[in-house]
Amino acid sequence: MKICCIGAGYVGGPTMAMIAKQCPDIPVHVVDLNRSRIDAWNSDSLPIYEPGLDEVVREARGRNLTFSTDVESAISEADMIFISVNTPTKTFGMGAGRAANLEFVEKCARQIATVASGHKIVVEKSTLPVRTAGAIKRILGSAGDGASFDVLSNPEFLAEGTAIDDLLDPDRVLIGGDSERAIDTLAAVYRRWIPEQKILTTNLWSSELSKLTANAFLAQRVSSINAISALCEATGADVDEVARAIGTDSRIGPKFLKSSVGFGGSCFQKDILNLVYLCEHFGLHEVAAYWEQVVVMNDYQKRRFAEKIVKTLFNTVSDKKISIWGWAFKKDTNDTRESAAIYVCRDLLREHARLHIYDPRVSRTQILKDLQTVMSDADGQLSPPDQRLIENHVTVASDCYASARDAHAIAVMTEWDEFKTLDYQKIYRAMPQPAFLFDGRNIVDRQALSEVGFEVHAIGKS
Ligand SMILES: NC(=O)c1ccc[n+]([C@@H]2O[C@H](COP(=O)([O-])OP(=O)(O)OC[C@H]3O[C@@H](n4cnc5c(N)ncnc54)[C@H](O)[C@@H]3O)[C@@H](O)[C@H]2O)c1
Repeated sequence: MKICCIGAGYVGGPTMAMIAKQCPDIPVHVVDLNRSRIDAWNSDSLPIYEPGLDEVVREARGRNLTFSTDVESAISEADMIFISVNTPTKTFGMGAGRAANLEFVEKCARQIATVASGHKIVVEKSTLPVRTAGAIKRILGSAGDGASFDVLSNPEFLAEGTAIDDLLDPDRVLIGGDSERAIDTLAAVYRRWIPEQKILTTNLWSSELSKLTANAFLAQRVSSINAISALCEATGADVDEVARAIGTDSRIGPKFLKSSVGFGGSCFQKDILNLVYLCEHFGLHEVAAYWEQVVVMNDYQKRRFAEKIVKTLFNTVSDKKISIWGWAFKKDTNDTRESAAIYVCRDLLREHARLHIYDPRVSRTQILKDLQTVMSDADGQLSPPDQRLIENHVTVASDCYASARDAHAIAVMTEWDEFKTLDYQKIYRAMPQPAFLFDGRNIVDRQALSEVGFEVHAIGKS
């Protein structure tokens, strides 16, 4: 048995490293078109920051885990091929802004059809619209050389920041397919370390749809509690108290009820929009509108946060220094895709604020790239005024203290643990008064910071 995975990203890299660690007798070859990413996987500085990932990669790399750009050889040698490429929201043509762009998945299927011989199991690891496996099967059906295929859906449920724990001890592994034999071959890999009862099998379409549905439900919980946070601020209720009170109801449960400046990450928004597109495609307009509201609420929450900063700072942030803590979309990852910080900072820049941004894991290059992208128009063009704003109003700081020195306000955008244990007396003394702190993650000790002298504004607290 030999495994190959096409796509060495946030999913392909960690999932294959875990399979290689747990199955030392199975060669696992991860391939990607992106040479610099592959070079990083082969170096001491991995392209992805994820707690515990270094150890897993170090244990398996060179033994039975390899990374390369040789996609064709990897396909032809493998018995099982995982497709783990990106499936972003389409930005052009039919379904733009909603449908998933399946170009990369289709290219993989065509390459497999061209290169493969003998029997192969093709596993959809990427998150895909329901019924994509049908298209993949048709493309593979054109393969020559006597090649035959089984197609399985095996969506990934890991969360960035806790990927290694999630892969070691998942709530479940889901395998969809119509060939018992192929399902059992893949299940046997997971059975090496995951108890049998956690390995669920379904038909292909249920498996594909379950992944979209899981992300829609998770994001819906965040938007639901964020909607209530706005009402808390208006009424004097406290969103954390409300979350605790409702979370103790076993029908609701306590998880994913943390109010914040809004969810980010590469998946939630794209998968809900994909679900919305599918519903519209099938004429289910009310269902589409229902799920779309989750994204609308998330945009509102990000916009509301930026507006609150402007209003609180006496209705102007022009030429005021604002210290931004955190750029990643959540703690313990260097992934910035769809991070709330990007949108809040765009809004503040357009008000001519001077931003001093610090994140422990995100590079200056990435921060500037994200700002350039978010401020560009639909054709990817950055206007000269916006270019000047980024050049003249954005500084990337080396730590929280440097970022906050002389700042009128601090905005906490990511819940990094290090933000909880800073010397807030020192920070306060280095800021003009009144010193404001806007906590977009509700992680600082409000009471203690108020005693230091800060005016603290948290989410969902009046
Ligand atoms: N990131 C997450 O937390 C997460 C969790 C669960 C599921 N998913 C899903 O997994 C899939 C991958 O997500 P990701 O975050 O790893 O994406 P990613 O952008 O980090 O990685 C995808 C990789 O695929 C490579 N690639 C694209 N086309 C290729 C081709 N034809 N041949 C070889 N390589 C190719 C790209 O160069 C890139 O390195 C998506 O469908 C996503 O929705 C992501």
